[in-house]
Amino acid sequence: MSIRTICCIGAGYVGGPTMAVIADRCPGIQVTVVDLNQARIDAWNDPDLSKLPVYEPGLDAVVGRCRGRNLHFSTAVEPAIAAADMVFLSVNTPTKTKGVGAGQASDLRWIEASARQVAACAQGHTIVVEKSTLPVRTAETVQAILSAAQGDGASGGSPKTFAVLSNPEFLAEGTAIPDLEQPDRVLIGGDDPAAIEALAGVYGQWVPNDRILRTNLWSSELSKLTANAFLAQRISSINSIAALCEATGADVQEVAHAIGADSRLGSKFLKAGPGFGGSCFQKDILNLVYLCGHYGLHEVAAYWQSVVELNGWQQHRIARLVVQRLFGTVTGKRLAVLGFAFKADTNDTREAPAIRICRDLLEEGAQLAIYDPKVPASQMGNDLGHVGGVDAWQAVGSPLAAVQGADAVLILTEWLCFASLDWSQLAAQMRKPAWLFDARSIVDLQAAKSAGLNVWRVGMG
Ligand code: UDX
Ligand code: UDX
Repeated sequence: MSIRTICCIGAGYVGGPTMAVIADRCPGIQVTVVDLNQARIDAWNDPDLSKLPVYEPGLDAVVGRCRGRNLHFSTAVEPAIAAADMVFLSVNTPTKTKGVGAGQASDLRWIEASARQVAACAQGHTIVVEKSTLPVRTAETVQAILSAAQGDGASGGSPKTFAVLSNPEFLAEGTAIPDLEQPDRVLIGGDDPAAIEALAGVYGQWVPNDRILRTNLWSSELSKLTANAFLAQRISSINSIAALCEATGADVQEVAHAIGADSRLGSKFLKAGPGFGGSCFQKDILNLVYLCGHYGLHEVAAYWQSVVELNGWQQHRIARLVVQRLFGTVTGKRLAVLGFAFKADTNDTREAPAIRICRDLLEEGAQLAIYDPKVPASQMGNDLGHVGGVDAWQAVGSPLAAVQGADAVLILTEWLCFASLDWSQLAAQMRKPAWLFDARSIVDLQAAKSAGLNVWRVGMG
């Protein structure tokens, strides 16, 4: 079966860029991305491509090429499903906040709602593709909902049949477009060979066949959780060693370089920092922990839980050491925070380490001046709430504005522009003795020291 129309439910960080690249690489396929959120769809349709709701380098050009040609953004979910040969589910699946599995299990209400909508509106044969990261065996739920709607049309309705595939997304925010255009691999899980080949045929228009891996459904779902757990584990591992480096006089950059030269270990994901953020790592590990607990594998659950615990510890540790260096108190002191996004080249702040570190400092009574090149003040407000009082922090428009009268500057996101800051100009605006805390190892430490700043860099003993 060759696919001619695709519908994607969920126009977020995953659905939007993924569908844009599919449309770009498959001019013969009409792709419609639908979302319940009218404001989000309006932003995707904004003639000004700098106003797309997701900031990703290169995304504006791809959307500019395809939008209106074979890429469409709409809130009309039902007709888009009815017209589709293939429906991607790319809705959010946050960690449950209440009920059974609260704090660990994923909240599947939107996946279920989407599956029900597909069951009701689909026509003919429809391939349903799980794109959202999901707990293992979710495909079973989706399949059960769809099966209940399946019929031969004898009862008067149109005949409909379904196949369910798992096709996890491995793109990282900030590099989503190159990750989608040249993926290390595409993973397709399923038990219906025709459906698998139909989806492989879509990716096959730009991905070499040997990079398209076919597995059973459960392997595919579990591979996504495992990949993210292993990546996050490397970060917690290097952050644990960073703390030991600081205590002993070793330098974590030298250690990371030395171990990364071992081809069995590899050099990637060994950057010590303020801990991992983003919508996936913590959620996926907690999912794994929940799953292991469910199957009685309590030691395995505890093993993965420790990766998340170390991450939170690292964030609190950084806030604590800032307070310690500033003579044990930050009450009433102004601190400049550079970077709020969970990593560079994205406007996403979900689980950003900056949130926890800023909250800790606000609780200690600090006044924060926060600058991020892409995160709007309203988003910072959502994330920080009223910790420390409404006037305890402000968003500012430049690093220079942030450091006015500050006792310290903290680098919490590795935006490239922070690598070339003019430290003599910035230091002149600060109250002495002034500190630089570089949690991302991005600034020119020599220049900062020459400007008279005391410096701390993560993992530097
Ligand atoms: C989400 C999941 O969090 C992640 O696990 C998965 O791998 C991919 O999908 P992301 O795209 O980053 O990631 O989420 P988000 O940016 O929140 O986008 C989801 C969109 O789905 C939102 O725009 C939301 O409005 C929409 N949605 C949600 C629907 O259109 N219908 C629903 O029923 C629920
Ligand atoms: C991750 C996975 O990489 C991706 O394959 C999956 O589809 C979604 O989850 P993402 O969260 O977008 O992607 O970004 P990633 O580059 O993995 O970074 C996650 C966090 O880890 C960021 O906060 C980043 O700053 C941090 N990180 C990453 C480190 O602290 N050190 C590193 O060496 C690498």
